[in-house]
Amino acid sequence: MSATPLTVAVLGASGAVGNEMVRVLEQRDFPVRSLKLLATERSAGKVMRFKGSDVVVEAVGPNSFKGVELALFSAGAGPSRQRAPEAVKAGATVVDNSSAWRTDPKVPLVVPEVNARALEWHGGVIANPNCSTIQMVVALKPIHDAAKITRVIVSTYQAVSGKSGKAMNELTEATRAVLEGKEPPAVLFPKPMAFNVSFDWPFADNGFTEEEMKMARETTKIMEDDSIKVTATTARVPVYRGHSESVYIETAKKITAAEARELLRKAPGVEVVDDPTLKMWPDPRTAEGKDPVYVGRLRDDSSHPQALWMWVVADNLRKGAALNAVQIAEVLMAKNLLKSKTPLFK
Ligand SMILES: NC(=O)c1ccc[n+]([C@@H]2O[C@H](COP(=O)([O-])OP(=O)(O)OC[C@H]3O[C@@H](n4cnc5c(N)ncnc54)[C@H](OP(=O)(O)O)[C@@H]3O)[C@@H](O)[C@H]2O)c1
Repeated sequence: MSATPLTVAVLGASGAVGNEMVRVLEQRDFPVRSLKLLATERSAGKVMRFKGSDVVVEAVGPNSFKGVELALFSAGAGPSRQRAPEAVKAGATVVDNSSAWRTDPKVPLVVPEVNARALEWHGGVIANPNCSTIQMVVALKPIHDAAKITRVIVSTYQAVSGKSGKAMNELTEATRAVLEGKEPPAVLFPKPMAFNVSFDWPFADNGFTEEEMKMARETTKIMEDDSIKVTATTARVPVYRGHSESVYIETAKKITAAEARELLRKAPGVEVVDDPTLKMWPDPRTAEGKDPVYVGRLRDDSSHPQALWMWVVADNLRKGAALNAVQIAEVLMAKNLLKSKTPLFK
């Protein structure tokens, strides 16, 4: 990518998503003039590698964003609410991975393959959607454009890295404990994750988890269509990386699974893997470390004339987080939209 290089900050650099952001910036040859890696005092002094050089992680403070043009945030909602105004006031544009700004009507929620045009009205903060939502909407978009989706019922099988880097360590320890006949730990998770399926998100009064409600809310905002009915069951499975989703879709206009498969073959960001006779279906092991949203198991529903099913898998740390954020930054640069004319914070 050739463009005027930017001063870039990564907030939450020592975390699972932050590490992946640094990797994606390097792999995509994003034009970086200088890179600032920010976290808390806990990780200050830690050394990370970027393009063959050492970069020392610094503890974030109110003056950390002086001179920063692009700030990629992955430090959680609380730090994001505190630091985004500081960064925008300092002149940076923030792409935020947390849930802090996603439902704010003044903040675009963007998946470049679906609604890149929403970047035109950003006020210095752009929200990166929830990982499960990102991969689903990339696969829904071509079907919606062709046949207008009216209803989506999704069940997810989410990897532990979607919780945090430390959550991956807990799965390792729990697995080892079970294999050694010991009691597995459950510290970050409500129940041991080894050889188990669980729900580790806060539950709302309506019985749904916050993750399930995020998928419904965020999908309609990104697809810019409130009429789509979305309902979800999100589950955590003992997989390190890569979320899988079983997605049921009803459409206003009839579209067959064969037609949807052909549309998806041409869709940006999608790779169709769909020949069960050759053991070809998407799975987290194959998706790990890769960029596409993999779609397979396309089939016409047998109980409804205008419905189909698909199986959608992507690496939650890449397309579900770091890659999507960097792709947003790439569009901002390509369309000369990096600097907001109407910043949210002055
Ligand atoms: N994991 C995913 O698949 C995924 C996908 C989409 C979005 N997200 C979102 O991305 C964010 C980070 O997730 P993660 O999985 O990378 O978590 P993580 O592995 O726990 O990393 C958290 C990072 O944030 C830093 N941090 C924590 N509190 C901070 C504070 N008060 N000020 C500055 N930095 C702070 C930590 O620094 P220290 O090392 O100093 O503690 C660490 O670098 C969360 O909002 C999460 O919801 C995650």
